[in-house]
Amino acid sequence: MTSRRHLLTGAAAAGLGAAAGGGLVAAARSDTPTSVAAVESLTTGTSTVPFYGPRQAGVAEDPPAHAAFVAFTLPAGTDRRALGRMMRLLSDDAGRLTQGVPALGDTDATLAPLPSRLTVTFGFGTGLYRAAGLESPVADLPKFKIDRLEQRWSGGDLLLQICADDPLTVAHTQRMLIKDARPFAAVRWVQQGFRRSPGVQAPEHTQRNVMGQLDGTANPRGAEIDPAVWNDDGSTTLVVRRMRAEIEKWDILSVADKENAVGRRLDSGAPLSGTQEHDEPDFTKLDASGLPAMPDFSHVTRARVTDPSLKLLRRPYNYDGVPNAAGQPDSGLIFASYQKDVARQFIPIQQRLADKDVLNEWITPIGSAVFAIPPGCTDAGWIGDQVLG
Ligand code: HEM
Repeated sequence: MTSRRHLLTGAAAAGLGAAAGGGLVAAARSDTPTSVAAVESLTTGTSTVPFYGPRQAGVAEDPPAHAAFVAFTLPAGTDRRALGRMMRLLSDDAGRLTQGVPALGDTDATLAPLPSRLTVTFGFGTGLYRAAGLESPVADLPKFKIDRLEQRWSGGDLLLQICADDPLTVAHTQRMLIKDARPFAAVRWVQQGFRRSPGVQAPEHTQRNVMGQLDGTANPRGAEIDPAVWNDDGSTTLVVRRMRAEIEKWDILSVADKENAVGRRLDSGAPLSGTQEHDEPDFTKLDASGLPAMPDFSHVTRARVTDPSLKLLRRPYNYDGVPNAAGQPDSGLIFASYQKDVARQFIPIQQRLADKDVLNEWITPIGSAVFAIPPGCTDAGWIGDQVLG
């Protein structure tokens, strides 16, 4: 008890010093563990991902545990010069915060020193290009018959995808960036999501989503990412779909029905035609009753592409909101996918899933947005400088 009180008062005093001095060093000290062993084991908080470079961060890295997707609407009359001023400011903030340095004028500088693999990825919607008088490299998605889209989760002229292994870091970054974006743009929607925390399972293991499925098995990895995701100039595109899980209906399915809906085993993630998670699905194999082992209506059968340049890099986050008074959950996936070309890669897959994917019984798209992800920048530049500069 005494040592706990001592710890608490010690931490409080150090925190106060940092706030009074406004100094990063003092702030860092209050967050620095004293024993060497503790320092060695506590790498999660101090890990950083470079912000500057030819491609934006937050795409190809393993997704951190927490994310906030923040979409903005530009007011009428926004022009290219205003966009440049906004992007200079937000890029500078992101450049600092991702390295554990407070943003200029950071009102909570003590929250900056543990970036926890923080990335801030900027996406430009069609409205931003229109405001700048430029042709947009992305277009709105066509309407799919499964869509039940709600305005409050759809569209957007500018997107910030903020990811980190710590939710406090995400919250601080979100607040700072929104504060600095405020003179230029209005918040349109915010979607917060999560994945497993660092240290919970080996990083190479596929994660489960809120529906209990291993999600990410067939994602491109390593060298497979380039042909699917990056254009020569370092740009890519992002589709964000808010997918409500009809989870109480899903809960009452048998394991066999759940497996048939996806085409993979629930426990191992193996395709129904194989035994190991990473076995290639065999769509010609028949089961004991003479039917295809991989049902032709299953999610994997419908979503499958073999051409490496047509794959999607899926980077989904779970969401789990407040249950209603009857205790029914508000749960699902913030499905996010990166691809070179939305029309060539995303739309055909989504169309096949919309036409005939039995999983549609248990998932409903309630939000949708598309963004171009401009190339990265040097530390002398800003995100969008090649487009808007
Ligand atoms: C709540 C919504 C969704 C859930 C729960 C879900 C779940 C899954 C699961 C469990 C797998 C199998 C394991 C894996 O490879 O990751 C999978 C594969 C896949 N999903 Fe989804 N998915 C959802 C939405 C979507 C959407 C909207 C798209 C694209 C339009 C999509 C595209 C794919 C693709 C391309 C694969 C890999 C297929 C393959 O080549 O094996 N999914 N999904």
